[in-house]
Amino acid sequence: MAVAIANSESGLDRVWNEICELGLQTYVADLDTHGYTVIPPEIASPNGLADRMLAACLDIAERRNGERPDMETGSTHANLPITPRGSSVKEGRPKGRMPLGQRDAPDSPVGDIMHSIFFEDEVFEDALMNPVLLAMATYLCGYSVVLSGMGCWMKGPNKSTFRLHTDTPLASPLPPQSMVCELMYVLTDFNRENGGTAFVPGSHRLCRNPDGREAIIGEGGNQDVVPVEAKAGSLVVWTGKTWHGSYNRTATGLRVSVPVYMVRPFIRTQENFIGRVPQEMLDRHPSRFAILMQQGVVPGYENPIDEAAKASYAEQFVSAYAEELGGVLRAKDLYN
Ligand SMILES: [Fe+2]
Repeated sequence: MAVAIANSESGLDRVWNEICELGLQTYVADLDTHGYTVIPPEIASPNGLADRMLAACLDIAERRNGERPDMETGSTHANLPITPRGSSVKEGRPKGRMPLGQRDAPDSPVGDIMHSIFFEDEVFEDALMNPVLLAMATYLCGYSVVLSGMGCWMKGPNKSTFRLHTDTPLASPLPPQSMVCELMYVLTDFNRENGGTAFVPGSHRLCRNPDGREAIIGEGGNQDVVPVEAKAGSLVVWTGKTWHGSYNRTATGLRVSVPVYMVRPFIRTQENFIGRVPQEMLDRHPSRFAILMQQGVVPGYENPIDEAAKASYAEQFVSAYAEELGGVLRAKDLYN
């Protein structure tokens, strides 16, 4: 046990050094106090990252939906319906995956959710490897954190608010440490009128999911909810336990974001990247990239031979990463 404690402390020392080098201390303090923080564009979006991401997202939307999103009026995404499961155009969120009580909302509270965008533009590699994002994700979920999914959410003018929830896939009570974390690139200005994210400050300390009326944004609902104010290019980070949802958009135009959902490696991921990352992509990044892309995770196996093959595939990436970290963590610790 003493060895394990020494290891986790040395990992914490290491990430704290990274946080200090990047000047993120006040944002970590915000995160600890309120359960969320807004890192401004001048820190979160180096080399025009957010502008490049927005351009890539607009191209993806045009390819998938057959029309260029109308950023000015938002008419291409206004009042989207909640779609039946399996719809591929302007997916929104299928009825079956909407929280109970929202399946018959007058329109989609979330707009068009475009899943699985990572391999469609190299800019998303930059988004994942952004040192600011990695320091915050590591602070919350450790050096073995993996990417669960990256998508683009586009929302036009709409009526429905999105209910408050946590992102942790567990029933209450929730464990004190974050099992998951969300790091969301805000690609257009977020505020109340623009249908931005809503938070209940301090709710992460309750270590439970919101229930009943406390999950509702609007009349008769949660009185402690506040809108996030974030300029385009910001990175909004929250813990796996923070109560959040979103306002409806009363302004014209589009709300565009790329949430980067990251989880501890024992949690089942939204997307499967194992064995799907091209070698040339692995080659142009440090060893951590492969770990982030789930290559160090051993998925469920079918028999001992299959287990040996999957473990051996993962082991090469875990060993390289342990070496890259310089002994801060042992390879064994990266499996947890
Ligand atoms: Fe969420």
